[in-house]
Amino acid sequence: MRTPVGGQARSQRRMRWLRVAVFVFALVPLARLVVLGALDALTANPVEFVQRSTGTWALAMLCITLAVTPLRRLSGWGWLMRLRRMLGLFAFFYACLHLLAYAWLDQWFDWNAIVDDVLDRPFITVGMTAFLLLIPLAMTSTNAMMRRLGRRWQELHRLVYAIAVLAVLHYWWHKAGKNDFSAPLAWALVVGGLLALRLTWHWARPPAQAARGAQGARRTPGVARPATARRAALPASSLRQAPLERE
Ligand code: HEM
Repeated sequence: MRTPVGGQARSQRRMRWLRVAVFVFALVPLARLVVLGALDALTANPVEFVQRSTGTWALAMLCITLAVTPLRRLSGWGWLMRLRRMLGLFAFFYACLHLLAYAWLDQWFDWNAIVDDVLDRPFITVGMTAFLLLIPLAMTSTNAMMRRLGRRWQELHRLVYAIAVLAVLHYWWHKAGKNDFSAPLAWALVVGGLLALRLTWHWARPPAQAARGAQGARRTPGVARPATARRAALPASSLRQAPLERE
């Protein structure tokens, strides 16, 4: 006979396997680079290939992370939210590899040249800004940080939309020199669509929910609320979920 406890254990097991599968799939782009590197098959310009591949995957992971909440809302599949933190961290991981490829293979860790490049080339400035903004999100992606920051965690993590816009701008600017906008335009449509969905849902919130959100945001600047009050401001269901697993 099926018991609720047995059903819960089965669904937890399924979720564990799903996480493992997503983890393995998310490592495929890196594995591809390693295999191509070992076979000496990273095209005629390996540095450019590695930089472009890691940059593209950082942007793709960012967009997949942003798509989780709309997909959950449209499909009703709550379990999708439990993959969001891992996907967000993979976006950060590929952005780190992209920056490492640039600093190491392109600039040979010449820090003066890197600083000059960040200051001189607007597309690098924008890429670096996007990367720096990703750092606090990755650092606050733990359950403990989510509890500590309370509602401010959600406000901080809204930065992910600005990061995605900056990443597209970075790509756009990079391609502007070559007058080839087809790929950045496709990414701009994806990010724009996800942002539009989010804003539409935000503005369509029932007045009571909007007022609760505004109350959480309207506090005396610099005065921290006690942790218990911050926790009380969050719906109980959201506290049981890990960071990046809430809306
Ligand atoms: C969230 C952060 C970032 C994202 C999502 C991102 C994404 C991208 C994308 C999608 C491309 C174009 C790939 C292609 O042409 O197919 C690219 C190119 C590039 N990015 Fe980034 N980027 C980020 C941060 C940075 C940073 C911090 C730097 C360096 C400081 C950087 C340096 C470059 C360079 C040099 C290229 C051109 C590669 C080439 O064509 O040789 N990016 N990036």
